[in-house]
Amino acid sequence: MNNNSNWLIKGFVDESIDKNIDLINEINNIKREKNAVIMAHYYQKDEIQDIADYIGDSLALAQLAAKTNADIILLAGVHFMGETAKIISPDKKVLVPDLNAGCSLADSCKADIFKRFLHKYPDYKVITYVNTSADIKALSDVVVTSTNAKAIVDSFPKDEKLIFGPDRNLGNYINSVTGRNMILWDGACHVHEKFSLEKIIELKKIYPDAKIIAHPECKKALLLLADHIGSTASLLKYVQTDNCNTFIVATESGILHQMKCVEPYKQFIPAPPNDSTCACNDCEYMKLNTIEKIYNTLKFEWPEIVIDESIRKKALHPIEKMLELSNKLGL
Ligand code: 13P
Ligand code: SF4
Repeated sequence: MNNNSNWLIKGFVDESIDKNIDLINEINNIKREKNAVIMAHYYQKDEIQDIADYIGDSLALAQLAAKTNADIILLAGVHFMGETAKIISPDKKVLVPDLNAGCSLADSCKADIFKRFLHKYPDYKVITYVNTSADIKALSDVVVTSTNAKAIVDSFPKDEKLIFGPDRNLGNYINSVTGRNMILWDGACHVHEKFSLEKIIELKKIYPDAKIIAHPECKKALLLLADHIGSTASLLKYVQTDNCNTFIVATESGILHQMKCVEPYKQFIPAPPNDSTCACNDCEYMKLNTIEKIYNTLKFEWPEIVIDESIRKKALHPIEKMLELSNKLGL
């Protein structure tokens, strides 16, 4: 099946879907027939968020994958999210709409190089962000997401020697709020690194009452300007609980859809990137997913996430540890 990938994607998605069929209706029918669920990350296109059974941040998607009774999980997000679901739920079929939906942060940490790096620090515990491949998770003591990173780092004894990877911005931020001195891997997300400080400062002059809210994958200079720093779920909660009416949102622009849904009378301004005439910042990997691909993926049950069983077992342990700790911490 893999060898037919180009044909399948090009042939069915671009040319062969009958233009007269109601795709949303068909997707719902297939989901019912096959006992499938669609789980979508907040960075998905609006129309995908609207058809999803569940929408969440990386932690919520992992927790949902552990709980669902569905036979098929269609993970509308990026590859590592599908892998995480498969590691947790090996008996379920985990599908992703486009295998090319990768992640620059996950790509910044290759297993062979990371392994060599770890050899230099034999007595260190290894904490990795969920935005990594299964191979990296298999080398880790515990996995974290941006929602639980601080609490999980805090759960280690104060004198424990820690390595954190792959996101240097999140790692620096967690070091600053926990008083730790974790050794950091030098990786980053290209989307969160390219927000323009100058353009955000200009926006703040136009909207002096606006609050700046930012994801911890952003660079330190931007985090220093932020009124609130948190995961996508945390940013969404903040705009609902804070009484400010205008927010400059420094994370991938997909989250604005849920913000507008839950707070239709508040104003959300996407923080602009520095390299584009567009006013918002999209992750091109997240945006590879489309309704058409979701329809084909559910219909043909492909592309499917497949993981080598020995890697899966090793990667499961640090994810389970994260889920247990998160549960204990009420996250
Ligand atoms: P969260 O879902 O944990 O906020 O992470 C954001 C992200 O970059 C996902 O790729
Ligand atoms: Fe990866 Fe960044 Fe895209 Fe998230 S937004 S999937 S971290 S490249």
